[in-house]
Amino acid sequence: MSVAHNSSRITIPQLVSRKGGEPIAILTAYTAPVARLVDPHVDAILVGDSLGMVVYGMTSTLTVTLDMMIAHGKAVVNASTHAAVVVDLPFGAYQASPEQAFTSAARVIVETGCDAVKLEGGAEMAETIAFLVGRGIPVMGHVGLIPQSVHVLGGYKARGREPKEAERILQGAIEIAAAGAFAMVIEGTIDPVSRAITEAVPVPTIGIGASAACDGQVLVIDDVLGMMGDFKPKLARRYVDLGSQISEAAKNYAADVKAHRFPGPENVYGIPKSST
Ligand code: KIV
Repeated sequence: MSVAHNSSRITIPQLVSRKGGEPIAILTAYTAPVARLVDPHVDAILVGDSLGMVVYGMTSTLTVTLDMMIAHGKAVVNASTHAAVVVDLPFGAYQASPEQAFTSAARVIVETGCDAVKLEGGAEMAETIAFLVGRGIPVMGHVGLIPQSVHVLGGYKARGREPKEAERILQGAIEIAAAGAFAMVIEGTIDPVSRAITEAVPVPTIGIGASAACDGQVLVIDDVLGMMGDFKPKLARRYVDLGSQISEAAKNYAADVKAHRFPGPENVYGIPKSST
């Protein structure tokens, strides 16, 4: 079969080949304008269910729906041409059975045009991951601190401090890699456990609050841009204080309106010269 392939988007096999090589840089994005800006610089864009908190002001990711992920996934795919796009499956859209996961993941792939889906969980998700991968859907795993299980975990504390839990996370990572996950996020997991996972699995590990030894890193874009106010998670680095700049711009605009400085002559429409 001959196929016209015009896209220069990074492929999933290209990401896999970076295991132990040049670190993979991933940022989240949820909207077209932000996706357009980050796309040339990163290897993959994650449309994370963190959008529940970041975009919608929810208190956790648990109330994010599949329709929300699809709407934002579509916007990000439309606005990007270079980075691979991975879309999160939200809570409740895949845990019931491999079949439920396939129906949800297929909707995400068909309706957004993204390259892969991400889902949370260790050994308990291995069967589901094998089911999806066997049917043509690339899956990024997510182990360690898994925010969709926050009520079971009892909070967002770093995981793997207890030897038993560290072993369970490591075994889960090994099992989802064996099931066919092409990469996995390790979130909020103490450094030695993240290193052990990275050494043990043959696919790239992507750290967030994990370890510099991971094969790549991911951050939530709003943490990078300084859009979360005083909330500065230890795991992130703020590269710009856009929040203050936006606040300053809004303050200056409102002051200009109230002082009749906006609009200026350059902002209003006159009578065209040809009709005078
Ligand atoms: O939802 C998200 O943004 C994520 C990252 C924190 C990895 O899963």
